[in-house]
Amino acid sequence: KLMKVFLTRRIPPEGMKILSAAGVCEVSQWDSDEPVQRADLLKGVQGAHGLLCLLSDKIDAEVLDAAGPNLKVISTLSVGYDHLAIDEIKKRGIRVGYTPDVLTDATAELTVALLLATARRLPEGVEEVKNGGWSSWKPLWLCGYGLSGSTVGVIGLGRIGMAIARRLMPFGVKRLLYSGRTAKDYAAEVNGEYVPLDTLVSESDFIVVSCSLTPETQGMCDKAFFSKMKNTGVFVNSSRGTVVNQEDLYEALSSGQIAAAGLDVTTPEPLPTNHPLLTLKNCVVLPHIGSATYSTRGIMGALSAQNLLGGLQGTDMPSELTF
Ligand code: GLV
Ligand code: GLV
Repeated sequence: KLMKVFLTRRIPPEGMKILSAAGVCEVSQWDSDEPVQRADLLKGVQGAHGLLCLLSDKIDAEVLDAAGPNLKVISTLSVGYDHLAIDEIKKRGIRVGYTPDVLTDATAELTVALLLATARRLPEGVEEVKNGGWSSWKPLWLCGYGLSGSTVGVIGLGRIGMAIARRLMPFGVKRLLYSGRTAKDYAAEVNGEYVPLDTLVSESDFIVVSCSLTPETQGMCDKAFFSKMKNTGVFVNSSRGTVVNQEDLYEALSSGQIAAAGLDVTTPEPLPTNHPLLTLKNCVVLPHIGSATYSTRGIMGALSAQNLLGGLQGTDMPSELTF
């Protein structure tokens, strides 16, 4: 008898192929590129043995109860899992698959692109070319900040943080500071100095947030944080939006407390088009596209399908979250 799986969205075809070739499950799906509504999610999971979800789906006790006792596995098409109520999942003995590693390079690349775009004011420049603001080559026009000789601070030197650091060093970065729960041996490769968060914040020219969202990091970048930054400091976040207090960030950017911010993640997502941050020239906001290369999304789709199948069949999952 085929096991039931529910997919909360259309996923890359690489993943669909693996699911249908396996021949062990009957797939039902929220067949759209837009998020499933809560009521449809609660209905869709009923009786499911497996759930494949995205970071935009909140999987809590209510969803798990709606699914019922069949549910063996949750496979998320993401490396982040802050949208999953891990304690509730653990209590029910459900296994979890996720997609680390395969998106590290793409996400690091995007973060570097965002940092450079923010520091060198690329969106503003593009806009000026289009709107006629480019009147001549002007010595003092559209100046920004360069990486050469700078101090970079990475908050959370994990897989992605380290990949960002490796890519930034060749730009001539002088010091690479990092903070987090523990010092990392592998930081030696980038001459990383493990420092307290306060030191990182006050000494860095560029701050890159690359930690996971936990109770500890929620709201970490707040008024006190921004007030310790240099006035020339550039802040970049490609982790989760709620690591940042956005009212405090707005204040810091509009008052000149800090120079600029680049965000690939916001609260909420999508960010409403009338949000105050979007009125600021020194804030570059991207629509959470860290892992968005064709090949990476294909690999994520395949991996999330393999994780789902492993969980359904009680075999190894290529990337199982251990908790
Ligand atoms: C993206 O933010 C992810 O968690 O994969
Ligand atoms: C800039 O284009 C320069 O020649 O300095």
